[in-house]
Amino acid sequence: MIKIAPSILAADFACLGREVEDIRAGGADYVHFDVMDGTFVPNISMGIPVLASLRRATDMFLDAHLMVDRPVRYVERFCMAGADLVNVHVEADSPENISAALDMIRARGVKTGVTLKPATPAQAVLPWLDRVDLVLVVTVEPGFGGQSFMADMLPKIRTLRGWIEERGLCCELEVDGGVDANTAPLCIDAGADVLVAGSAVFGRADRAAAIRALRGIRA
Ligand code: DX5
Ligand code: ZN
Repeated sequence: MIKIAPSILAADFACLGREVEDIRAGGADYVHFDVMDGTFVPNISMGIPVLASLRRATDMFLDAHLMVDRPVRYVERFCMAGADLVNVHVEADSPENISAALDMIRARGVKTGVTLKPATPAQAVLPWLDRVDLVLVVTVEPGFGGQSFMADMLPKIRTLRGWIEERGLCCELEVDGGVDANTAPLCIDAGADVLVAGSAVFGRADRAAAIRALRGIRA
């Protein structure tokens, strides 16, 4: 079954523990944790201390999406704070430093992900595709929740799914940005197996119904 990773960027930060408990009870698989540094993207969100607090509050899988310049500087601290998977953007540093960041994450026993901005072609993941646990395709200009899904990213998702199958990799394919009950079926059809959704989950009072809708299950 398709995995659902609600993005807590759209949650109420004043009661984050309760928000996460709500999505756990509603059947979510991962907690998607968006980290923005104000440089790699034009917005600032949350960081290591918040992730450490969440780790104490839940046993859910914490999927950290680092929208951060030169993530090699921070990945070990995200691992120590309790992330289960750390995603780094391939655009955020030189290939050597991205490899170093992924090695550090792996050395801590944490899962690795590489992430692509909309303008970055699928080919950019090839140096790491056979070694990562997840590839994340961002389907909005990263930095803000609540934007519209870029349908022109669907061929990129399809290409990546093709490579994962051809090579027999067990890497997951995650899609993030503008995913709602209307765009989720397009992502699933293109080959995504993890869907991130911020507004489509936390913007609704009934989170369980929102998660079911993303899976295509009618209320
Ligand atoms: C965008 C973030 C997304 C965002 C998704 O920069 O990486 O995770 O929170 O939010 P929605 O689902 O509202 O587009
Ligand atoms: Zn994200």
